[in-house]
Amino acid sequence: MKVAVAGGTGLTGRHVIEVLTAAGHEPVVLARSAGADLMTGAGLDAALDGVDATIDVSNVTTMNRDVAMRFFGTAGRNLLDAAARAGVRHHVALSIVGVDRVKTGYYQGKLHQEQVVREGPVPWTVLRATQFHEFAGQLLERVRGPLAVVPRMTVQPIAVREVAEALVEIVAGEPQKAAPDLAGPQVESLVDMARRLIRAGGSRRRPVVPLWLPGPMASGGLLPTGPGSRGVLTFEQWLGEGRR
Ligand SMILES: NC(=O)c1ccc[n+]([C@@H]2O[C@H](COP(=O)([O-])OP(=O)(O)OC[C@H]3O[C@@H](n4cnc5c(N)ncnc54)[C@H](OP(=O)(O)O)[C@@H]3O)[C@@H](O)[C@H]2O)c1
Repeated sequence: MKVAVAGGTGLTGRHVIEVLTAAGHEPVVLARSAGADLMTGAGLDAALDGVDATIDVSNVTTMNRDVAMRFFGTAGRNLLDAAARAGVRHHVALSIVGVDRVKTGYYQGKLHQEQVVREGPVPWTVLRATQFHEFAGQLLERVRGPLAVVPRMTVQPIAVREVAEALVEIVAGEPQKAAPDLAGPQVESLVDMARRLIRAGGSRRRPVVPLWLPGPMASGGLLPTGPGSRGVLTFEQWLGEGRR
């Protein structure tokens, strides 16, 4: 099956491309660096020629509501319109567990993306996953200075590789609208994850300062509430396995 991956050069996208290839599918990368811009639509029609299915793991790095709404709204619509023109039969989008409970800036953009997919012209599946094991590192990379300020968040992290495997399994099946939430095997504190990652040499050594944020993020708003698939690799094992 020919599968286009929006954001195929990103953290998640690179794993999705590898898993698709290993499963015998033919992946196509949609990213600005590969000549396709989701925001302008440039290059999308050419890239989607002959594509059977699409997986959207594109992203914008922001905490700002307007920036996130604009990105996920425009990119999502452009991708779906081009996918419909190409005759794509299944569109899979990756979202976040608890996105409807945690109503801060970025999460509103993700909620908007889900709405665009639901109302779009292509049969769809939305998979909500919890934060990745890699999330602590992504966050630390963005924090400059001698102290690492990390929000107090209770998470149930999963290896991004396992998320990629779930996305590839889903895209090969029938569209299912909202898929059951995907989460990791154990509940963790993000502050603790950041400290352990630094201790393991996975990020620059500096003190981690917990930041309390208002809202449900610290009290389990990002945890799954119902049944669904669970990854098997714990954060501790992922740290020990060289963080792949
Ligand atoms: N991090 C987590 O813990 C977590 C948890 C659950 C769900 N998610 C979701 O997972 C998704 C992927 O996140 P990620 O951290 O893997 O992303 P990422 O590493 O930031 O990668 C973003 C990708 O989007 C592409 N992109 C950005 N703007 C584009 C544009 N205008 N046109 C085409 N491509 C564009 C980038 O390629 P170019 O720069 O080359 O264009 C890149 O391939 C996000 O939607 C996020 O909400 C993340």
